[in-house]
Amino acid sequence: MQSTSETRNTQVNDVVRQLRAAGCVYAEDEAALLMEAAASDDALDHLIRQRMAGLPLEPLLGWAAFDGHRVRLGPGVFVPRRRTELLLREASREVVEILVRRSSPAASAKHVAADHDTEALVTVIDVCSGSGAIAAALLRRHPNVRMLAVDNDPVAVEWAKRNVEPLGGWVGEGDLFDAIPLQIRNEIHGSVAIITANAPYVPTDEIRLMPPEARLHEPHSTLDGGPDGLALQRRIIGEAATWLAPGGILLVETSARQAPETLEMMRAGGLSPSVLRDESLEATAVIGRRLG
Ligand SMILES: C[S@@+](CC[C@H](N)C(=O)[O-])C[C@H]1O[C@@H](n2cnc3c(N)ncnc32)[C@H](O)[C@@H]1O
Repeated sequence: MQSTSETRNTQVNDVVRQLRAAGCVYAEDEAALLMEAAASDDALDHLIRQRMAGLPLEPLLGWAAFDGHRVRLGPGVFVPRRRTELLLREASREVVEILVRRSSPAASAKHVAADHDTEALVTVIDVCSGSGAIAAALLRRHPNVRMLAVDNDPVAVEWAKRNVEPLGGWVGEGDLFDAIPLQIRNEIHGSVAIITANAPYVPTDEIRLMPPEARLHEPHSTLDGGPDGLALQRRIIGEAATWLAPGGILLVETSARQAPETLEMMRAGGLSPSVLRDESLEATAVIGRRLG
């Protein structure tokens, strides 16, 4: 008769074998995660069958890793990508710089990072927030910023509420900035410190070239940036300067190929832009600062 640990090892090996046969590259890692996620043997069988049928891992687990934390999500919502940590990092850097500027000349970035009163004066909008990965991660780093996360997809908004509201952020549903109700709009218009936007930026014709996990299982509304991929960015950039405080920044994720156009749109939108690139994350973003 097998001991408990032998039974467990047999089960792990069996799951790894099934996943490997289905073409999963990281079968050992995925087996461990699926076994952790499943509440029973039947549930595990169900998860394995779905994974073998090509469903992405993260909605099956119920979470995706982002900035070292778990973002809760399910089917029908965009899975946050590691490259988007570039936007988060730059937004976080900006919060710290604002705190340094507003505190005494002798203060260092390390010391002001915990200045909660000053942090509370920093308003951030995460537009096209999906599950709220960027918004939640920024709130974890800076718990007192005023965070507004908006998306037009009710499924994404539900997940964002679960991820962002417990950390003190506000989540709204609607088309881009229209999701922000009039009262809040009047309070923050022209005084926002940071806008982050990982909006859809895949040209419509290129969605068919994406990996099946994205192409078949993520809603096209989360990927489709219109004929040139820039339709949503164009609208966000066109409006951003009216929301930003003088010196405030807009951070937009884009592709290396599209970056020159994203940059030109920012310039035309009254922002001083530059391209950011992180090779280790394979990430490209454009930052635009409102002058004045
Ligand atoms: C590429 S996903 C990014 C989600 C999230 N920022 C992230 O990085 O995980 C783009 C998101 O934009 C949302 N979206 C698309 N069109 C929108 C619109 N007109 N107004 C608000 N959100 C929109 C989609 O629902 C989707 O959640």
